[in-house]
Amino acid sequence: MTPEASTVVLSTAAPVFKRVYVWELPVRVYHWLNALCVLVLTVTGILIAHPPALASATEASFSYWFGVNRFIHFAAAYVFFFNFAFRIYWGFVGNQFSDWRNFLPLRRAQFRQVWSVLQVDVLQAKNRPIEAIGHNALASFTYFAMFLVFLFQVVSGFAMYASMSKAWFPQLFAWAVPLFGGDFSLRQWHYLAMWFFIVFTIVHVYLVFYHDYVEGHGVMSSMVGGWKFVHPEMLKGNGRSWFPLSPRPPRNPAKPPPH
Ligand code: HEM
Repeated sequence: MTPEASTVVLSTAAPVFKRVYVWELPVRVYHWLNALCVLVLTVTGILIAHPPALASATEASFSYWFGVNRFIHFAAAYVFFFNFAFRIYWGFVGNQFSDWRNFLPLRRAQFRQVWSVLQVDVLQAKNRPIEAIGHNALASFTYFAMFLVFLFQVVSGFAMYASMSKAWFPQLFAWAVPLFGGDFSLRQWHYLAMWFFIVFTIVHVYLVFYHDYVEGHGVMSSMVGGWKFVHPEMLKGNGRSWFPLSPRPPRNPAKPPPH
C-alpha cells in the first residue's frame, strides 16, 4: 500500500467517539475492593476447607498459621460485607449507570436487550453493536444474580461464625444454621457458592476483555478511570442509548473531561 493510500484508509476508518464518565470513583473503589476480598476469601477459604498437613519442628506458637488464615478469612468477610452494603447504598445516590434499577429485570426493553446480547455474544448469530453505555442488560442481570450469591455467602458465613464469636454482628445471622439443616449442611452450601464466584470470575474477566477488544469502547479501562468511549449516536437519547433510565441530573456538571 502506498503512503497516500494508507493515509486515506486511516482517516476514513477513524470513528469519532465521545468520552462519557460512566463509573464514578465509589463504584470503581467498590469493584476493586470487592475483587480483592473475593480473592483473599477464596484462597483462605480453600485452605480452611482443605488444610494442608504442614509438619514443622518449630515452637508450636510459631505454627499458628491456620488460626492466622481463619482470622484473615473473617476479617476479609467484614470488609466484603460493608463494601457490598456501600454498593447497595450507592445504587440509590450514584449516577444513572450505577442505579439499582439497572440490575432488576423489570422492563421489556431490558429483556429485548438480553435477547440481543445473546444473539450477538453467545449465539454469534448477529453482528451489530449493543447499545448500552453502562452494563448491558444481560451483564446487569448476571451481576444481580451475583449480588444474591454475595448475600447468601455473607449470611451463611456469619451464621457459621456465630457459634465461635461473642460479637453481636455474627449473632444477627445465627438463625440461618437451623434453617439450612445445621452447620455441616450450611458449610456445604457456603463451599458451593465459593465455586460460583470462581466460575463467575473466569467468565467475567474473559467477557470484559472480549468486549473491550471487539467493541473498542474502553470497557476495561473504564473500571480504572471511569470513562468509556461511545459513538455520538448513542448519546442522542433515542430510548435505547442511555439504557434504561432517564439520566439523573449530573452530580458535577462543571467537571470537564481530562485531556
Ligand atoms: C482481574 C479481575 C477483574 C477484572 C479485569 C474486572 C473488570 C470489570 C469491568 C471492566 C467491569 C465493568 C463492565 C462494564 O462496563 O459493563 C466490571 C464490573 C463488575 N465486576 Fe469485575 N473484574 C474483575 C474481577 C471481578 C471479581 C472477582 C468480581 C466478583 C466476584 C467482579 C464483579 C463485578 C461486578 C459485580 C461488576 C458490576 C459493578 C457494579 O456495577 O457495581 N469482578 N468488572
